[in-house]
Amino acid sequence: MERFEKGFFVGAATAAHQVEGNNIYSDAWAQEHMEHTNYLEPSGDSVDHYNHYEEDIKLLAEAGLNAYRFSIEWARIEPEEGKFDEKELEHYRQVIVCCKNNRVEPIVTLHHFTSPKWLISKGGWEADSVVEDFARYARFVMEHLGSELRYVCTINEANMGIQVAVIARRYMEQMKKGMDEQKKESMVQMGLNFEKMKADQRAAEAETLKIFGVNTAHCFCTPRSAHGDMLIMEAHKAARDVIHEICPEVKVGLTLSLHDIQAQSGGESNAEKEWAEEFTHYLPAIVDDDFLGVQNYTRMLMGPASSLPVPEGAETTQMDYEFYPQALGNVLRKVAKDFHGELLVTENGIATADDSRRIAFIEQAAEGVQTCIAEGLPIRGYIYWSLLDNFEWQKGYSMTFGLIAVDRSTQTRRPKPSLSVLGNYAAS
Ligand code: BGC
Repeated sequence: MERFEKGFFVGAATAAHQVEGNNIYSDAWAQEHMEHTNYLEPSGDSVDHYNHYEEDIKLLAEAGLNAYRFSIEWARIEPEEGKFDEKELEHYRQVIVCCKNNRVEPIVTLHHFTSPKWLISKGGWEADSVVEDFARYARFVMEHLGSELRYVCTINEANMGIQVAVIARRYMEQMKKGMDEQKKESMVQMGLNFEKMKADQRAAEAETLKIFGVNTAHCFCTPRSAHGDMLIMEAHKAARDVIHEICPEVKVGLTLSLHDIQAQSGGESNAEKEWAEEFTHYLPAIVDDDFLGVQNYTRMLMGPASSLPVPEGAETTQMDYEFYPQALGNVLRKVAKDFHGELLVTENGIATADDSRRIAFIEQAAEGVQTCIAEGLPIRGYIYWSLLDNFEWQKGYSMTFGLIAVDRSTQTRRPKPSLSVLGNYAAS
C-alpha cells in the first residue's frame, strides 16, 4: 500500500437526508410517508447525524482521513419558499467548524437528491423557475458560509434523472423478456424499487395530487425529460456564477454518476451512445467548472441491443452490482480525455456485509487512482461512499456501504476495520 501525497484528499461522504434524520420539509420525507410509497421504510431518525456529527467527524479524523463531503439540506435552509432558517444555517456552520477543528477539509454539496416539498408543488425539476430558486438558495448559503469553504459541489449526480429515465425505458423492454426485478434495478447507481413503483402506479398518482398538488412529482431522481435535463445544467451554471461572484476563490463543480461502460462485441455504437447520454453531452455546461466530481460504483457491459447482465459467476454486492473496483480508474481516464479541470472522486464504494471485501474494493480502487495520477491525471482526492451505514433511498437501511456501522436503536457507532485502512492512504 502506498500513501497519497500531501494535500490529496482522502475522505468519506454522506448526504443530509440519508444520515441526519427528520428531514421533514423535504419531498423525500413526504413520499416516504405516502400510503403508496416506493420506499421500503421511512428514514425516521436515520443515524441521527444531525446530533452526532461531532462524534462522526472525530471518528473520521482519528482514523486518518482528511476530508469530509456532506450536503447542506435545502429543505432545512428554506422550508417555506423565500423563508430562510438562520438556525439551520448555524447548524451547518458548526459542522464546518467541527471539520476544521479536526483538520478535516469540508467539501460541501448544495443539492443531494432531496428538495423542499414546496419546490415540487411548483413543478419541481421540470419547471423553469427551478433555476432561479436554486440560485437564490445557493446565494444565501454562500453569503453566509462561503468564506469557510474551498470546494463546493452544486448538484449531486446531475445526470441521475436521465439515467432513471433510461432504466425505466429499459425496464419496460426487459419486462417483456422476463428478466428478474433485482437485475433491472441494479443497472442504476442508487437504490430503487421498480417493482413496487409499477404495482402502485395509479393509486400513487392520486395520492401525489393530494400531497403535492400536482399530478406528477418531478423530484430530482424521477425520470427526466430533455427539457428537465437542460434546466439542471442551467441551475448548475446559475449557482456556479453566484458562487464565483461571492467567493471567487472557491472551486466549483457538479458530480456525475458514471459507469465504466465496456462495449462487448457488436455493442460499440450503443456504448458510445450511452456514454454521450451519461457524460459527453454535459461537457458544454461544465467546461468552465473548476472540477468534476466523479462517482462510480461498477462497470456496465454493453451488447448490440442493450446493456448485459453481470457475467455468470461474478462476485456481486448487496446492490447486485458486479464487484469491479477497476471501473474507477477506467472512468477517470475516460473523462480526462474531454474534461480538463481538476478531478475529484466524490463517491466510490461498495454495499457489503463483509468488511474484508470493502477493504479489497478500496485497495483496488485506490491503486487505480494512483496509477491515473502517475499517468498525469489531475486527481485531487478520493472520497469513499459512505462514512456511515445509512438510508439507501427506496431500499431503506438494508444496504451497508459504511465505514462505520450504526446500531440505530441506541445510535451507537462502531467503526469497521475499513475505516482505518482508508485513513492509512492519507499522507501523515
Ligand atoms: C448517491 C448516493 C447513494 C449511492 C449508493 C449515489 O448514487 O449519490 O446518495 O447512496 O450512490 O447507491
